[in-house]
Amino acid sequence: MEKTIIVTGGAGFIGSHVVRLFVTKYPNYKIVNVDKLTYAGNLENLTDIDKLPNYIFEKADITDAAAIKSVFDKHRPDGVIHLAAESHVDRSISNPMEFIMTNIVGTVTLLNAARTNWGNDLEGKRFYHVSTDEVYGSLGAEGFFTETTAYDPRSPYSASKASSDHLVRACHHTFGLPVTLSNCSNNYGPNHFPEKLIPLSINNIKNNKPIPIYGKGENVRDWLYVLDHARAIDTIFHNGKNGETYNIGGNNEWTNIDLIRLLCRIMDKKLHRESGTSEKLITFVKDRAGHDLRYAIDSTKLQHELGWKPSLQFEEGLDKTVDWYLSNEKWLDNVVNGEYQQYYQKQYGNN
Ligand code: NAD
Ligand code: DAU
Repeated sequence: MEKTIIVTGGAGFIGSHVVRLFVTKYPNYKIVNVDKLTYAGNLENLTDIDKLPNYIFEKADITDAAAIKSVFDKHRPDGVIHLAAESHVDRSISNPMEFIMTNIVGTVTLLNAARTNWGNDLEGKRFYHVSTDEVYGSLGAEGFFTETTAYDPRSPYSASKASSDHLVRACHHTFGLPVTLSNCSNNYGPNHFPEKLIPLSINNIKNNKPIPIYGKGENVRDWLYVLDHARAIDTIFHNGKNGETYNIGGNNEWTNIDLIRLLCRIMDKKLHRESGTSEKLITFVKDRAGHDLRYAIDSTKLQHELGWKPSLQFEEGLDKTVDWYLSNEKWLDNVVNGEYQQYYQKQYGNN
């Protein structure tokens, strides 16, 4: 094998698309998926590629230093693409400690393992940390986040991700660890866990349940199709400069209410419902505590320096996403069983 790469969180939403892209595009790389399989980790995301000879799964918790050391000793990776995280803002509000453990302690555990395993032999090595635009805080009506925007995280989730970003950079400056970082906007697409706005709404519309919109639905997010994020990660992993950060975004801003109205129109067509049927399910509920108003990414650096750009228009991406959920009912039914029901009741009550 030409290279061995550890992908953490490869059973999750974005991680599974990154694993699939790397396993199929680089048959000469060994891809080791390291995942604890929390409620968000799902090996069903990878059943189409998990028999390929260059794919290996290791069940491990990134906060468990002994387990992570033994994965590094066993596979001796050339690269790490670190996606494992607690990723849902609402869960970070009700249970911050899980976020501190996985996102901060877990990241330091991986950094330590990489430093120990690689020693002074850093030729061809790379630790790639995947982060979020939420570290930059919240924008007003104007402006964009660039790579030099000051950090201003405002939820336990974004504060834990900001902390992990700082620790990765600190390892680069203090110990010379070869790193790259990226901060991406909101992803959407197949395999997205239905606690997040788009897949939750698809599932609820399908089942004629209320669509819970926080506050007045005026908050703005910049949406990017998940495969375009995976392609950006591939580009940065291979061509990004050591020590650099790249912002990734869709240049595709939507207020939540406009996005959900578009989704309702698409779902009405796909489900052969009378136009306007799904919109009647929209229900305004109590706002998220500390709800960031607007995120918008300036990805000029990545586009100009490394030649990446998003490939899909939003309407096309959303249409493909709805098709995927409607033709993968078993996947959806499996993930909304069990823990999801308790989570939903606690978060939304009878809404
Ligand atoms: P996800 O919640 O769908 O998946 C997270 C994965 O990490 C799961 O497979 C889970 O089992 C695994 N995991 C969690 N804790 C672990 C631990 N202690 N040890 C090992 N594995 C563990 O997340 P996602 O939406 O795919 O996000 C992946 C990464 O991308 C995260 O770092 C997130 O901060 C970042 N990100 C996400 C988005 C987005 O819109 N979803 C945008 C920008 C950046
Ligand atoms: O910006 C990148 C981030 O995007 C990632 O780092 C996070 O991991 C990812 O979860 C996502 O965070 P958001 O909080 O923006 O995503 P979420 O889908 O939870 O919410 C999108 C918007 O929709 C946000 O303004 C809150 C609102 N919302 C969300 C839910 C779940 C609702 O109005 N109702 C809901 O039920």
